Amino acid sequence: MKDILQELDNRRAEARLGGGQARIDAQHAKGKLTARERIELLLDEGSFEEYDMFVTHRCTDFGMEQSKPRGDGVVTGWGTINGRMVYVFAQDFTVLGGSVSETHGRKICKIMDMAMQNGAPVIGINDSGGARIQEGVSSLAAYGEVFQRNIDASGVVPQISVIMGPCAGGAVYSPAMTDFIFMVKDSSYMFVTGPDVVKTVTNEHVTAEELGGALTHTKKSSVADGAFENDVEALTEIRRLVDFLPLSNREKPPVRPSFDDVERIEDSLDTLVPDNPNMPYDMRELILKTADEGDFYEIQKDFAGNIITGFIRLEGQTVGVVANQPMVLAGVLDIDSARKAARFVRFCDAFEIPLLTFVDVPGFLPGTSQEYNGVIKHGAKLLFAYGEATVPKVTVITRKAYGGAYVVMSSKHMMGDVNYAWPTSEIAVMGAKGAVEILYRSELGDAEKIAERTQAYEDAFANPFVAAERGFIDEVIQPRSTRKRVCRAFAALRTKKQTKPWKKHDNIPL
Ligand code: HXC
Repeated sequence: MKDILQELDNRRAEARLGGGQARIDAQHAKGKLTARERIELLLDEGSFEEYDMFVTHRCTDFGMEQSKPRGDGVVTGWGTINGRMVYVFAQDFTVLGGSVSETHGRKICKIMDMAMQNGAPVIGINDSGGARIQEGVSSLAAYGEVFQRNIDASGVVPQISVIMGPCAGGAVYSPAMTDFIFMVKDSSYMFVTGPDVVKTVTNEHVTAEELGGALTHTKKSSVADGAFENDVEALTEIRRLVDFLPLSNREKPPVRPSFDDVERIEDSLDTLVPDNPNMPYDMRELILKTADEGDFYEIQKDFAGNIITGFIRLEGQTVGVVANQPMVLAGVLDIDSARKAARFVRFCDAFEIPLLTFVDVPGFLPGTSQEYNGVIKHGAKLLFAYGEATVPKVTVITRKAYGGAYVVMSSKHMMGDVNYAWPTSEIAVMGAKGAVEILYRSELGDAEKIAERTQAYEDAFANPFVAAERGFIDEVIQPRSTRKRVCRAFAALRTKKQTKPWKKHDNIPL
């Protein structure tokens, strides 16, 4: 009996060694942790329940039958993050470069199926040389099975991808279909075709880092939602993110005990908006001063800075924030910001996370580049996302809310539930200068007259009261009391139920 128990221990120890000490050392030398070390950091201490530790590949080509590493290059199972369940897989680069075989793929599929059935997020740690070359089409089939589950799990359980090494070729499409992608600077990359193929086909000379590193994907392509300095920081931040998320679409977002006073008044917000309507101010300040304990988890911080997206808590409950940022491009909506915010709004709606929208938007960005690249369709994504969202929606207009952009930004007309405006708001078709230039074109030579007309327009329209008179704004509020008003609005909406006409699914402009 003792021998059998010892045998189990030996087998486990062998599996835990992955591709052997030399390869573990090589992994460390690259500044990367091993799959098991990553899981240990990600999950609560001692909470990891591993599955399929003894699974081996079945390939008999290329002499593969001579070596059958236990676990087959991926560590899978479940554990907890601050006591809440998550499923996890971590590719083990020390075993055949973390390459995906038929059995490797099957292990991932098994925990994805469990996650969907039991209602818990899937966190995938990617560090892989791609399809196991020795297995050919069986490996491609394995990817296909994972892709299908990514699609089936979308909107059912949150899916988070952490790229901590290579992720190339068709393999990128699994993370691409998850809700969030995070990368580690200098040690991870993602691309469909690598630098060598790029050089052959387009004659461009580019490094792997330039082509698909963390900075490329967080600043240029927006494929990734965040970049971290190293493995430890990345995993710590994923734990923080998971704390904001519901475990599945079957439950409400988590509520954590909050020690921040709901009635907290922020006098400094009364002077946040400058007297000069063309002066920028930092919308992030409003977000931080509204949030419980000033805690804000920003998504896509380095992309389309003219809109801010991320999670806060109000009275302990997770809320998704979307806010125009006057500090960048005066807060205009454009292709990038509309796409960024639309995806965020849809994530929140899929997982019952209420939406708070702060509005200061002068309109859509004009120009051939925007039009040629389809700002019509991309802008419509955000409009569509807000209009289809049935979660509680609270909106606060701080300054400009002009034209189509006013309607898009969770207005009453897009079924906003509670719409507030600060007294500094200007809700109109456009700014006074533009309006006067169109309405009084014949008087443009007469500066005095134009100034008079501009003043008259401002007096009539550059305020929240015209909209408030029509009920498009529920209340004009003092900036200092924003947190209190917004918290009360969400509290009143906690039991909101909104149904829409039956359909198979919508056809959002893609
Ligand atoms: C089998 C692989 C492998 C693979 C790496 N290895 N990739 N084994 N299949 N795809 C093995 C290596 O043989 C080596 O084994 C070990 O992993 C570490 O690899 P190294 O090359 O020594 O590491 P490094 O120098 O860090 O380079 C990493 C790498 C490189 C850039 C990922 O290994 C590489 O280019 N691999 C091939 C990538 C690729 O072309 N994959 C197919 C992509 S197409 P030993 O025994 O020496 O330690 C694809 C399609 C997916 O993935 C389609 C989905 C629909």
